[in-house]
Amino acid sequence: MKQTRARRDHAADLLEKDVSSAVAIAGHPLHAMSVHFPIALVIATLGADILYWWSADPFWVRAGIWSSGVAFWSGVAAGIVGTAELLLVPGIRNRVASWAHAVAAMTLLSVAGANWGLRLVDPASILPHGLILSLLASFLTGLAGWHGGKLIFHHGVGLMVSSKD
Ligand code: HEM
Repeated sequence: MKQTRARRDHAADLLEKDVSSAVAIAGHPLHAMSVHFPIALVIATLGADILYWWSADPFWVRAGIWSSGVAFWSGVAAGIVGTAELLLVPGIRNRVASWAHAVAAMTLLSVAGANWGLRLVDPASILPHGLILSLLASFLTGLAGWHGGKLIFHHGVGLMVSSKD
């Protein structure tokens, strides 16, 4: 009973300020569509580093340069869209959880950029420095993704609910 009332109050709170995505294609929020690329490629870079450590095959050095570079730039692209949502939508920018997600995501992008830059300048330093950055980036990806998911599933942010529904 108490829980139902709390849910109803929360839903009313959500309706007070607009939380719908402002950057979407045909009703599909662009940020939610684009975050899969940095998430997958940060983890793929960690995989490449572990396989290089295990096999010493230089193929994994090249694979890591590409995956860390695309992880960084696709993360920057997703971050630009996320920042637009944060600044443009009142119900998103008013939530502390949005800023918590943004801080975790910006920290991740800094580490992902450093991980790519390190490999470009000195590919031999993958062990141990690249591997450490990959571990840190993977942890931060989990943290940013967790907070991003909370925004959707706990706060109902970014949903495209029209008055027809
Ligand atoms: C750097 C600045 C960023 C800001 C300001 C930001 C902001 C947001 C906002 C406002 C949402 C709610 C959904 C929406 O309105 O589209 C969201 C969701 C989300 N974000 Fe970000 N974001 C940023 C970067 C990232 C990055 C780099 C990642 C990848 C690791 C990421 C992962 C997610 C995830 C997983 C969700 C939930 C989407 C879903 O479950 O479909 N965000 N973000």
